[in-house]
Amino acid sequence: MSGIEIEGLRPLEGEVTVQGSKNAVLPMMAAAVLNRGTTVLHNVPRIRDVFCMLDILRAMGCECRLEGHTLVIDARTVSRIAVPREYVASMRSSIVLLGTFLGRCGEAATFYPGGCVIGSRPIDIHLDGLRKLGAVIENSGEKIVARTAGLSGGRIHFPYPSVGATENVLLAAVTAHGTTVIEGAAREPEIAGLCRMLVGMGAKISGIGEGTLTVEGVSTLCDSEYTAPGDRIVAGTYLSCVVSAGGRSYLKGVNAQELKGVLKVLRRMGADIETAPAGIRVYMGRRPGPAGIKTAPYPGFPTDLQSPFLSLLSVSDGCGWVWETVFEERFATAEELRRMGADIEIAGRKARVHGRYPLHGTTVTAPDLRGGAALAVAALAAEGKTEICGCSHILRGYEDLCGDLKSLGAKIRQQPGGA
Ligand code: EPZ
Repeated sequence: MSGIEIEGLRPLEGEVTVQGSKNAVLPMMAAAVLNRGTTVLHNVPRIRDVFCMLDILRAMGCECRLEGHTLVIDARTVSRIAVPREYVASMRSSIVLLGTFLGRCGEAATFYPGGCVIGSRPIDIHLDGLRKLGAVIENSGEKIVARTAGLSGGRIHFPYPSVGATENVLLAAVTAHGTTVIEGAAREPEIAGLCRMLVGMGAKISGIGEGTLTVEGVSTLCDSEYTAPGDRIVAGTYLSCVVSAGGRSYLKGVNAQELKGVLKVLRRMGADIETAPAGIRVYMGRRPGPAGIKTAPYPGFPTDLQSPFLSLLSVSDGCGWVWETVFEERFATAEELRRMGADIEIAGRKARVHGRYPLHGTTVTAPDLRGGAALAVAALAAEGKTEICGCSHILRGYEDLCGDLKSLGAKIRQQPGGA
């Protein structure tokens, strides 16, 4: 298992361009299947989850070509409607192919994506929404089979603004007969990006960026080209790295508007933040101060940055707290941070953190994607060397964490050996 080795207590300096957004691109790749033609996506991150979605689309009969960060998807022919089981376990977001293939072919099959270290992650809201559009769904055991004689628009109210369920129902509603209204939709920027891409393909969607989306079904979609946004979670991770290590950096290719809640916390922790149309400047000249963080659906503090900020609080000069309201078990990183000397008490969905500085380098293991990145944040404020094992998690969502941090002056290297 390959590892990353970081030598801490060196300030970061320089500028880095943030990769394209994983959580925007994955549903956009699914959306391309709705068009019996060619879709071009730019700013596609070269990460494992994208490679996995490419394998799925190819297995379903699409031709996909990823050249650099540009992806061309030719979905003229689809030869199967069942998502291969081996891919579902490793990439939960394949669940949005249910809505896609129901919309394209009138039938779809996949498997329960299952839980992971951050929670049970049920899909009841997805399935209830698709049923309201006329899908008949059999979910016996792990297999899910969905069929429809023709999807018809309807009014759907989500009990929780689920990101994936919003994407799934959107992808099914775009070519359904009649109008669909989704109330209580997720408002994450990735949803707005998906909507804008679908509109560029000929879909009719209003309320983009708001909690109620209205979709007027169309019969066909057209070839299109779209540029994915920068990854706000990767940007937030890198901001945490600079605040943890100290120094100054400029992150290009990210929309500061999408990180307002995060920038507010960083300022409270003592960071100087300047936002520009094309990026974010950050300067940190001292140890971060404490803060209280409550995660919530957008525009609240993003749960995906909870672990990196748990690391930041671990080196702050005071007592901070985290309340994780989105996932029920997203504190797995705390145990690894304790091995570095962090003082974290967990009670259910709440963590109390007594900052200590510096932490001390040791060998730790990434529990999940964002937890792995969080260990890098902590390692930058630790004395000596930290070896992070289990980096295959990190490679799912970060195209080049090592290269990017090295370009900012971090003493970091990827240990040899396939991750
Ligand atoms: C998306 O996951 C993201 N993944 C997650 O990012 C992110 O943490 C999450 O949204 C919240 O922002 C992708 O976009 C690929 P949800 P998703 O449905 O769609 C409950 C990362 O690190 N729920 O909004 O699975 C669920 O259990 C990943 O990049 C139901 O109860 O998130 C959870 O508690 C991790 N029933 C909450 O809603 C449902 O049918 C939020 O889940 C669906 C969800």
